[in-house]
Amino acid sequence: MRVQSSKERSVIDWPNKPIISPEDFVKAEYSNPEFVRKYMTVGLWRSEEVLMERYFEPKSSVLDLGCGAGRATIAMAQKGFKVTGIDLIPEMIEAAKSQAAINGLQLDFRVMDARNLSFPHESYQNVLFSFNGFDQIPGKASRRQLLEDVHRILKPGGCFILSCRSGLAFGKRWATWIWLALEFLVRKVSGRIKPGWEWGDKIRKGWYHHYSTPFSIRKALQQVGLELVYFNSSRNIEKGKRPTFLTNFSPDKSLFFVVRKSADSKK
Ligand SMILES: C[S@@+](CC[C@H](N)C(=O)[O-])C[C@H]1O[C@@H](n2cnc3c(N)ncnc32)[C@H](O)[C@@H]1O
Repeated sequence: MRVQSSKERSVIDWPNKPIISPEDFVKAEYSNPEFVRKYMTVGLWRSEEVLMERYFEPKSSVLDLGCGAGRATIAMAQKGFKVTGIDLIPEMIEAAKSQAAINGLQLDFRVMDARNLSFPHESYQNVLFSFNGFDQIPGKASRRQLLEDVHRILKPGGCFILSCRSGLAFGKRWATWIWLALEFLVRKVSGRIKPGWEWGDKIRKGWYHHYSTPFSIRKALQQVGLELVYFNSSRNIEKGKRPTFLTNFSPDKSLFFVVRKSADSKK
């Protein structure tokens, strides 16, 4: 697919364009050189740092899913973690390798689809999916497969830090749901449901995002056998505030779920 500028990308949308799947949108978006450049920073968010200090053992192994240009992977390596970063987009992995080299590091970066992880059972102490990358995985079955794989790959007692946006965020997101509901209804009635389209998907202007509710994420994590040990929003974590029920509706940049694989889990 031809790479487009952000101005051009605003015209990719249904129903005027030929059919493209949500996956095509993700690929087009993240292989765009503008996007790759945007992700070429190194450094953990304060919220990520707090959670890693609390839940990842020092110098343990971490698999960074959807690592992009290596922002978190490189920062974790600098903290002494043994890291592997995977991303769907070859351009992102190239950028991550060059960022690592600039920082004097040679790290294990691989092009791999998070929906089809080829790592052996119990090969990592920790797994990270940062910056809401999970919201870029189209299809409930694919997201379920990914979580099952994370459970399989984690060593017993290991932790997974997952970040997502809240699909129930106050304000703007609610308007999004009303819009999506109306669109869904009109398309259903007129028989023009988008291929691969799922409730909660927003595909606009060359951009794909799946909005999950925190309740459905907790349920999905629990269903694959991962035990929730912590949940909070990025801003609360940064300010040292405890989560409340309202945190489920937070418009923050990310919600964080920390889950653990049981220490006596069988292969
Ligand atoms: C929002 S970016 C975050 C990048 C990086 N983690 C960071 O924090 O800077 C999401 C990343 O997920 C990657 N991604 C999307 N779908 C993926 C998939 N199925 N498998 C692996 N990576 C994927 C994208 O290519 C993109 O680099």
